[in-house]
Amino acid sequence: MAQKKSASTVQAFIHASQVYTGEGILLKEGRMIDSADVGTIPDGAVVFDSKKILWVGPTSELPLKYKSVKKTSLKNKQAIMPGLIDSHTHLVFAGSRAHEFARRCAGTTYQEIANEGGGILTTVKSTREASLETLFELALKRALISYRLGVRTIECKSGYGLDHQTELKCLEVVKHLKQALPQMTFISTYLGAHAIPTDQKKSQYLDEILHKTLPEVKKKGLAEFCDVFVDEGYFSLSEGERILRAAKKLGFKLKIHADEMGNTESARLAAKVEAHSADHLLKISDKGIQALAKADTVATLLPGTAFYLKAAYAPARKILDAGARVAIATDFNPGSCYSLNLPLMMNLSALQMGMNLGEIFAGVTYSAAASLGLETRKGTLLPGYDSDFVVLPYEHFEEMYYRMGW
Ligand code: NIG
Ligand code: FE
Repeated sequence: MAQKKSASTVQAFIHASQVYTGEGILLKEGRMIDSADVGTIPDGAVVFDSKKILWVGPTSELPLKYKSVKKTSLKNKQAIMPGLIDSHTHLVFAGSRAHEFARRCAGTTYQEIANEGGGILTTVKSTREASLETLFELALKRALISYRLGVRTIECKSGYGLDHQTELKCLEVVKHLKQALPQMTFISTYLGAHAIPTDQKKSQYLDEILHKTLPEVKKKGLAEFCDVFVDEGYFSLSEGERILRAAKKLGFKLKIHADEMGNTESARLAAKVEAHSADHLLKISDKGIQALAKADTVATLLPGTAFYLKAAYAPARKILDAGARVAIATDFNPGSCYSLNLPLMMNLSALQMGMNLGEIFAGVTYSAAASLGLETRKGTLLPGYDSDFVVLPYEHFEEMYYRMGW
């Protein structure tokens, strides 16, 4: 009975102009990628059911047993690739920082605004004041924008509560998103250590993170990852390590906002604690690069943030050529990158960071999946992987990063 039901849901896309499987990227585990590794099948077909991909290959070789399934022809006009993965966002917050943006455009720096008590703390105020319902409505709209751009998996961080109750509220929002949009995969990350709140001493807040919020988030199953912002004026390397080690003990997977505003050697810490990713890396040192190249830790690059802050881009070529795995994400947030447009980040990666087509493809598929611990299910379009792919509105993947902000 069950078999009959699942068999009836089997269907196929045929005559895709190209099917991009990402097989070469998978075989190389995301390292030293070139353009051929995207695994192009011209005039391809994909057979799938509601859960898994069953078969991928040239349309002319479609196995007999799938001849009678429901087929949709893409008339060799549209390509298919794995669903895009935005592996770093701060999706849940309320309020606007448009007034601060205007000041930044007039010459005040991001850090000057933060030092005056603005920046992250501006958003903390509005996020604390917002109800769960308001935060949910805002996040849902944002997730749908992302979905329309081809994103099927999105990581969402807390970090605009900076107190026990509001951090939990923001993670609850992600839980509701999971229920509201089953067509997307949401990965939630507890980033309590995003900044220091003004109503508690740092030592008190650290205690709250370590002894109250982290265990509660775990108990309630509200986040898979724990992230920390290690930077001058935020959390030190040793405070970051303390939080991450405690989180690891509780069973969280780890991430670090590393070497963003200044070099703190936090990329090396990411490798040392076996974090799934070290993110930002604008100021990574050569030693940091070597550490990531030797580790499984993915270097997550966020070119939209460098662009928006008018800062120097991360040294992507050095990181890639050293053999590290590199993901590309939006860092969507209200202060340093107010954009959900992952294809735009791909365009910036090509233009500003010198990344090739295969590296960019890997950055939003396999390597992004690896940074979220999802690489055995997502980011590759082969039998056994999730039925998680997108039909592009054009014949070639190249169009996606060639277009700027479409
Ligand atoms: O990823 N680096 C820390 N956090 C964010 C910025 C947050 C904000 O400005 O609201 C980032 O860039
Ligand atoms: Fe971030």
